[in-house]
Amino acid sequence: MTRVEHLDHAFGIGERRPRLSWRLPPEAARQLAYQIRTTNGHSLDTRARDARTTDDHFVDGQTADGPDPAGRDTAGMNSDGPDTAGRDTASPGSDVVDTGWVADAGHILVDWPFAPLKSAEHVSWQVRVRTELGDSDWSGPCSLETGLLEPGDWTASWIRPAETDIPPAGQRPAHDLRGIVTCPETVTRARLYATAHGLYEVFLNGQRVGDQELTPGFTQYTVRLQVQTYDVTALLRPGDNEIVVRLSDGWFRGQVGLLRSADQWGGRTAFLAQLHADGTIIGGTDSTWTTLPSPIRTADLIEGQTSDLGPLPTFEAPTSSPQPTSDRATRTPRPSAEQPTRTPQPAAEAPTHAAQPAAGVSTHAPQPPTGVPTRAPQPSAGMPVEVATEIGFGGLVGVVAPPVRRVQELSPVAVTFPAAGRQVVDLGQNINGWVRLTGLAGVTGQITLTHGESLGPDGDVDTGHLAPDMPFLPQPLSAGQVDRVTPAGADTFEPRHTTHGFRYVRVEGGPAQVTGIVVHTDLRRTGWFTCSDERVNRLHEAALWSFRGNACDIPTDCPTRERAGWTGDWQVFSPTAAFLYDVAGFSTKWLRDLAADQWDTGVVANMSPCPPAEGRHGPLGGWNGSAGWGDAAVIVPWSLYQAYGDERILAEQWPSMVAWLDHVERAAAGGHHPARKPDPHLWDTGFHWGEWLIPGEQIGDMREYQARDKADVATAYFFRSAALMARIAGVLGRTGEAAGYTALAAAVRAAWQAEFIGADGTIRPDTQHNLVRALAFGLLPEHLTQAAADRLAELIRAAGTHLATGFLSTADLLPVLADHGHADVAYELLLQDSEPSWMVMLDRGATTVWEWWDGVDAAGRPRDSLNHYSKGAVAGFLHRYTAGIRVGAPGYRDFRIEPVPGGGITSASAGHDSPYGRICSSWRLADGRLDLEVEVPPGTSAEVVLPSSVQVVGPGTHRFEHAY
Ligand code: BGC
Repeated sequence: MTRVEHLDHAFGIGERRPRLSWRLPPEAARQLAYQIRTTNGHSLDTRARDARTTDDHFVDGQTADGPDPAGRDTAGMNSDGPDTAGRDTASPGSDVVDTGWVADAGHILVDWPFAPLKSAEHVSWQVRVRTELGDSDWSGPCSLETGLLEPGDWTASWIRPAETDIPPAGQRPAHDLRGIVTCPETVTRARLYATAHGLYEVFLNGQRVGDQELTPGFTQYTVRLQVQTYDVTALLRPGDNEIVVRLSDGWFRGQVGLLRSADQWGGRTAFLAQLHADGTIIGGTDSTWTTLPSPIRTADLIEGQTSDLGPLPTFEAPTSSPQPTSDRATRTPRPSAEQPTRTPQPAAEAPTHAAQPAAGVSTHAPQPPTGVPTRAPQPSAGMPVEVATEIGFGGLVGVVAPPVRRVQELSPVAVTFPAAGRQVVDLGQNINGWVRLTGLAGVTGQITLTHGESLGPDGDVDTGHLAPDMPFLPQPLSAGQVDRVTPAGADTFEPRHTTHGFRYVRVEGGPAQVTGIVVHTDLRRTGWFTCSDERVNRLHEAALWSFRGNACDIPTDCPTRERAGWTGDWQVFSPTAAFLYDVAGFSTKWLRDLAADQWDTGVVANMSPCPPAEGRHGPLGGWNGSAGWGDAAVIVPWSLYQAYGDERILAEQWPSMVAWLDHVERAAAGGHHPARKPDPHLWDTGFHWGEWLIPGEQIGDMREYQARDKADVATAYFFRSAALMARIAGVLGRTGEAAGYTALAAAVRAAWQAEFIGADGTIRPDTQHNLVRALAFGLLPEHLTQAAADRLAELIRAAGTHLATGFLSTADLLPVLADHGHADVAYELLLQDSEPSWMVMLDRGATTVWEWWDGVDAAGRPRDSLNHYSKGAVAGFLHRYTAGIRVGAPGYRDFRIEPVPGGGITSASAGHDSPYGRICSSWRLADGRLDLEVEVPPGTSAEVVLPSSVQVVGPGTHRFEHAY
């Protein structure tokens, strides 16, 4: 498997010097050398050539201590080695360029060896490696392609629909924009580059282009806007080609964030596209484009979408087109006369009523019905578009993460009819996405779809708990999530310009067949866990689904109420997410927004991308910069480095981390709590969310909550970030700064100890969360550590073996117990089935993890979001302790397998697809024995820790038996 940066498919990237990764042959212990070649006539990077002459890093066949150049044939691997740098004599074709053998053990995120890439450059590359097993074959050809890298690459203009009057947010229509591009006879490679202020979908000659959803995605639009690159070679034809774009508000102009503010990045939507054929620009958005109303009458990510599929005025057909546009472009398959049934069809892998995927599109889910809308026979030229000359090309960026896609379809598990004319569909799983309706042909009026996470006592969908509680706003905010469609003869409907967090859908206005469409960033799954206890497996599944429900181009808090990239949430969950999915690109993208959102004072915004209304100058400006949330600036890059070995993310985020720590240092030194004597290293002022959502805690009056002393939490995070900064500086070779942050961390730790450890050695405040943090962050002197862990266990016992942790420390609760001899208590908490506990969530029907411990009370009443991943970080305990897979050297170059059985679990197994390959740990307890099987990927080693033995093993599968 090869990769470019953090992408499996590096298409439209913005990186001129992308790093390359590959895996070693099975069982290979170590790479001795590698060789990379391209077939594009690339020259080697001159910097690399210079380096070669000075430090002999690049090896022309051999060096004194380098590998044997001449095809050492071991283990039957390919051995036709090249003998000169720059040209591979064994390869055909004169434009093949290769690095020669490079004596280097690194094969993850290896620096680009060739000259920096240009815009729209397509590179085909191959790699082979030399290991102790011999020389491998060349890998299959891998490719990468850059997008448009320079503002000057654009000749197209930004255009926008002519909007005479703009309705209030939530009620604004999508617009269709149409242009004609003339294409030459033969085209071997065609690319469409597109982006928008708003959300867009593109149709080329009536076919939907690509399978990405919610493009261009969510970034801090003032600074960064993603451009998508599409391969449209198969869709173009000689002569005139029609491009139709459907453009709605999206995050750019629609409602976003805690306050549901609209128009956050501008009051108008806009679109930009450029079409290239074989390296030549053949067209793009300009003043010749026209605009017409679309069938989407309203579209808002939070509020929902209203569509009327009745005939619309058509665009005039392009003059030289072989067929009239209106014949080619149909919106949906015509009614299939399929009668809706009351009982849903059984779940099918790929429902037959869906259109077949177009060639080259994702096979995760069938391609949705494609095509531009059916329009009335009288052609209309449409209104001329406006050219938006004031929008520039400066902030356009390529992709660093996989796109959002329709990744799965779910068939309902139940359909009920709680009242006349109301159908309630249960997907059996809380998801992010939307539904597809089929069987609409007989429907005469409008169908209304209300999406929710729970049912009321009457069996109907209850959305009351999803409406934000913002008493200070002039009007109450709605729960949103309502779609409406007038089928007007169409058989099928899918919205695509909105998303919802839901398990249940109320259908009013006519029965319809409903299929759930799961929509999220199309991340590669990398982590699995299963054990002998089904309840624990269900909990793991719920945590997994909570992440899936909250990975919609950015990591969100919930897919319903705010859908915001809350920093604290990702700070807590990102290490667990990085085990389950490859989130390297996803998180890198988000960190760039975090840095872009940072104030010049270093304050980290509560959420990224941060809508201006939530930022410094908004009404809640003072709520930004909280401990545990702002610390995401340091902790998230560190988690990424641990999981993927990506040092560059540390370097890239370094200025942001420094700015945050400077702010914290100033804030700590600059004020003090009135009840405390000043200490410049105690952070006891400012706004903090604190531990947040501790069971039973009443927040009620925010002003009173704000005034509560949270110095224990804030100072602990001050220490945590300063200590991490010392390590990060060390990794980056910033020796002076490493020493500075080490000293700062020591001073903060001393201040915390002076304030929060009593003369008798007891820790104050005597709360579970304070003790968890003290133990997890290393705030305690050695001699008090065990006593603190014992006290934590005692507090838990005193509460009837119940946890009392909230948002920030729950992830560390079970690990610190297990680390200090209380694995029994950890497992009892994991399996506790009275409130507050994870099992109560499952017992009360959760399929995702709740925001509050009592997200659904004993009477079945829901409270706030039922899909928040922070408490789902308990899955990390299952991976790292129950199954025992723990990262050692960054990227799992070495790792530890140290299972901690407990809770009556008799077997457990976990797998993680690390950058080096698949790691597995699988154990079984039987007949007084623990049987453990461990899989170690090539190029890595594992330290296997069992109660009375420690062994280091290399690549391959290993079995261990231990008395237990
Ligand atoms: C969000 C959280 C977030 C919090 C700040 C909530 O409204 O849903 O997940 O971290 O505010 O405490």
